[in-house]
Amino acid sequence: MIRLAVPYYESDRGVAEYLLFHYGGADADFAPGIAPPSVGNFPEQCVRQGCDPGRLPPNARALDLGCAVGRASFELARHCSTVVGIDYSDRFIAVAQELQTKGRMDFVALEEGELTRPATAIVPPEIDRQRVHFEQGDALALPANLGTFDVVLLANLIDRLPDPRCCLQQIPNLLNPGGQLIITSPYTWLPEYTAREKWLGGYMDANGPVKTRASLETILAPHCRLVAAKNIPFLIREHARKFQYSVAEATLWIRA
Ligand SMILES: C[S@@+](CC[C@H](N)C(=O)[O-])C[C@H]1O[C@@H](n2cnc3c(N)ncnc32)[C@H](O)[C@@H]1O
Repeated sequence: MIRLAVPYYESDRGVAEYLLFHYGGADADFAPGIAPPSVGNFPEQCVRQGCDPGRLPPNARALDLGCAVGRASFELARHCSTVVGIDYSDRFIAVAQELQTKGRMDFVALEEGELTRPATAIVPPEIDRQRVHFEQGDALALPANLGTFDVVLLANLIDRLPDPRCCLQQIPNLLNPGGQLIITSPYTWLPEYTAREKWLGGYMDANGPVKTRASLETILAPHCRLVAAKNIPFLIREHARKFQYSVAEATLWIRA
């Protein structure tokens, strides 16, 4: 049976890794002498490269689906007067809510084995945190009263869902006309999260290889126009000498 959220997203380790991923400074997080690829802050890049503030109406509303510990939601608040961040993980949402109220949060980052060091996640102080609201929820069963949005961000969410097609099919109804949809994913399909028959790509069918990008276009094209595709690299640090380097594809869509 596929579970909606795996224990990692509720664990101390998951919280610490995502706090570093969303709020950590680049070089200080690694052992001396280690120079990982320089990639910038991923949630910040998702918004900077994905959102076109010049096309937003006054009092724009944004939805960050699968927001984790919330950094992209705060970044969206630079451009939108209301931002709703939703994640399935109770732990992640509790952390995001603490960051929303206090602007900072202490945690411990793993260094080596059982060794840790103290760290602090800080929301950039120029961001108006009052614009942001976080709530626990399921991307496959969203509340009926969520309203509609001018920006919807799905950052590295689709390949962690049991039914990504079902999630994507509801997105056009959440977008205002002209609304911006940002989908990023490294397309890391894994049976632990998504039963193989629900994958959007990464397998062969009778016609040859099925690619996620093509499936996204099939699902979204009746309602949304693809306006750009970009590569956004990211690093998730596990400890001072280990990190995952991935490259998400960001596809940017406009609601017809
Ligand atoms: C790979 S992480 C990406 C987090 C964040 N968007 C980012 O880019 O760093 C996937 C996130 O999706 C959340 N998630 C998994 N299943 C979900 C669901 N059914 N509804 C909402 N969030 C879900 C997880 O809890 C986790 O925070």
